[in-house]
Formats: sequence, C-alpha cells, structure tokens
Amino acid sequence: MNNLLTATLGWMDDRFPVSQWWNEHLAHYYAPKNFNFWYYFGSLAILVLVIQLVTGIFLAINYKPDASLAFASVEYIMRDVEYGWLIRYMHAIGGSFFFITVYLHMFRALLYGSYRKPRELLWIIGMLIYLSLMAESFLGYLLPWGQMSYWGAQVIISLFGAIPYIGEDLAVWVRGDFVVSDITLNRFFTYHVVSMPIILLGLVFLHIIALHHVGSNNPDGIEIKKQPKNEKGWYLDGIPFHPYYTVKDIVGVAVFMIIFAAALFYAPEMGGYFLEQNNFFPADPMQTPQHIEPLWYFTPFYAILRAIPDKLMGVVAMGASIVVLFLLPWLDRSPVKSIRYKGIVFKFALFLFVISFIGLGYLGMQVPTATFTLMSQILSVIYFAFFLLMPFYSVWDKTKPVPERLTD
Ligand code: HEM
Repeated sequence: MNNLLTATLGWMDDRFPVSQWWNEHLAHYYAPKNFNFWYYFGSLAILVLVIQLVTGIFLAINYKPDASLAFASVEYIMRDVEYGWLIRYMHAIGGSFFFITVYLHMFRALLYGSYRKPRELLWIIGMLIYLSLMAESFLGYLLPWGQMSYWGAQVIISLFGAIPYIGEDLAVWVRGDFVVSDITLNRFFTYHVVSMPIILLGLVFLHIIALHHVGSNNPDGIEIKKQPKNEKGWYLDGIPFHPYYTVKDIVGVAVFMIIFAAALFYAPEMGGYFLEQNNFFPADPMQTPQHIEPLWYFTPFYAILRAIPDKLMGVVAMGASIVVLFLLPWLDRSPVKSIRYKGIVFKFALFLFVISFIGLGYLGMQVPTATFTLMSQILSVIYFAFFLLMPFYSVWDKTKPVPERLTD
C-alpha cells in the first residue's frame, strides 16, 4: 500500500508540483511559534467560506429567482426538500458567522499591528475581501424576497440617488428598474451565485499568496524572518506549519463547529439578529415596514449614515468610515507593532474605538430618536478620531522595548 502511494505521488510529482507545494506552504513553511487564540480566525474564515459555497450550491438547486416564486421556493426548501431546513439555516446563519470570524480576524490585526510593513498589501487584499463580503451578503439578502429583503435593498440602492447629477440614473442602472423588482432579483441572484463567489475565491487566494510571501506576524510583532537560522535551516522562533498549526487549527474547527451547531439547532434566528422577523413575510412593494434596518454586521455603518442629517454627507461619511480602514498601515506610525509594547495612549484609543464600533452597531438597530442620533454623532466622531489622530498619538505614545526573541 505504502509503495503504491509513493509511486502515485512520484507519478503526480513528475507532472504537477504536489510535494513541492505541500512543502512550500505546509511542511516547510515556518510560522512564529507563539500563535495564540486570535490566530484561529483566518483558518475559520476559510471554513465558513467553504460552508457557504457548498450549502449555496444546494440552495441554488431548489431556489427560484423569480419575484412571484422566490419566497415560496424558500418555504419549499424549508418544509419539503430533504434536509432543506438544515442547508438553508446553515447558509443563512453562515453569513453572520462569516462576519463574526472576519471581525475577530481584523481585530487581531489591530492588536498586533499585522497591517504594518511588510504586510500593507496583505491588509489591502483583506479589506477588498471585506468589501466583497459585504456586497455578497447584501445581494444574498434580497433572494428570500421577504419584507426586509425588499425594503433593505430599496433603502440601500436609493442611497446612490444622493450622488449629484448621476445618482438617480445610477440607482436605476443598479436596480434595472425604477423600483426594486423581478429584474433586480434576477441580476442580484446572478451576482450572488456567480460573480461575487469568483471574486471572493480569487481574493482569498491572493491573500494567502501575499501572506506566505511575507510570512505571518505574531503577538509580539517581531519579524522571525530577520532572525538567524538554526542548524536545521529553520528561523530560530519558527516552527513548521504542518503538523503544529494544522493540529492547532483542527482544535479551532472542532470548537467552532460546536458553537455553530448550537446556534443552528437551538437558535437559528438568534432573537432576530441572524434572521429578522420581518423577513418571514413575503415582500410587499405596497407596504413599507415601520422600521427598516440591516443585519447586525452592517449596523455600525448604518448608524454613521443616519448620524448625519444630510443624505449626501451621510453617504460620504459612511463610505469614509470604510475607506479609512484601507489607510491604517500608513496612519499607524508607532515604532512598535504589537499592543504588548505599545503604551497607554494606544490602548485607551483602541478601547474607545471598540466601544464606538459596538455602540454604533447597537444604535444602528434602534428607531432613531433625537438622543440616539446625538449618541451616534458622538460615537462617529470617536470612530473617526481613532484613525485620523493615529499619526499623532502613535508617535507620542510611550512604547516598551521589543525583545530580540519571541516571549512565549
Ligand atoms: C474570507 C475572508 C478571509 C480569509 C479566508 C482569510 C484568511 C486568512 C488566513 C488563513 C490567514 C493566516 C492565519 C491567520 O493569521 O489567522 C490570514 C492572515 C491575515 N489576514 Fe486574512 N482572511 C480573510 C479576511 C481578512 C480581512 C477582511 C482582513 C483585513 C481587512 C484580513 C487581514 C489579514 C492579515 C493582516 C493577516 C496577517 C495576520 C498576521 O500575520 O498577524 N483578512 N488571513
């Protein structure tokens, strides 16, 4: 059996670089030896991507992208298709789990300065993934053709109308109609199942290539590639990705699956956070729901949009709140990367940023009142201040000396 396997691998290797890739990216790929909890989320994001692709294919087999059939076809999947409820719930809550993993993954980069030189491009590719993920989830949300699908799309697409001169035409062009209609549903279905998955897969591929080119950062923010190599030719603080981190990541996958299954079987709607109540009613273009709000992962940006009374300025502020993330590698001028060696000013600024992001997320889900709008305005200022003042406070901050070797 062993001989047969070796012979098959040899045959493959002569025709395709199987062993070379295995060694380059796993067995002889050296990663810092101090990865912690925060380093689970990259591999978990890959797992969620695979879950979404596989369940998405099975959903598309039974779904009908037609305004008169879409809602009923989702009910048919939920009630009549064998295990259709499981596939549909996995896909629907998978969207929320995607954002949970990606937000934690991005937060790790903030903690350890993983966006700093030489990982700027890795970060930018990550941001493009984040934008594509937002687009993918927005497009997918229209497909069940429920009340929130319909009116959510109506509100967001109409934002294009705020752009001077071309806005209204642009909104019609995006919808393919003067209101969200069957035409919109058809094109959103195509983008959701064909265009965006291709773009996402391509970007994730580039993300990994860029990561393996520069090597991983770590909780100490020390570049292990700058260290001398030992007698075996390994970086002093590096360990082979396989088997050390493949095993670690499998533990992460096991824990993730338990949490995912708990949500899936016991709380798929998650009290309206993962699946909104209003979306259990079919889309009715004649009846606007009293309160239109996006899913939780968009609400921080939605709160920034609503914080500004002027529609155009609101759209600009919302766009800027995402664009500013792209600039992070150049805004942070601290001499150290990791929070472990940064001073109290950065730690406090990061704390305020987290409060502002969560606070905005909460406010984006509420019916806007004068008090809530004022709170959104204050938190929006804190959100932007974290980024725009960073070139100053990251220089003033008193940092600790970074050791030569990893500390744990
Ligand atoms: C589908 C979404 C994504 C997937 C599958 C993915 C995958 C990965 C993987 C497997 C790693 C290496 C393991 C790890 O460090 O956890 C990684 C590292 C990294 N990712 Fe992502 N990623 C995604 C989204 C993002 C986003 C949205 C950003 C930021 C905007 C980002 C920024 C980074 C950075 C900076 C690193 C290097 C971290 C370090 O070495 O400390 N990624 N990614």
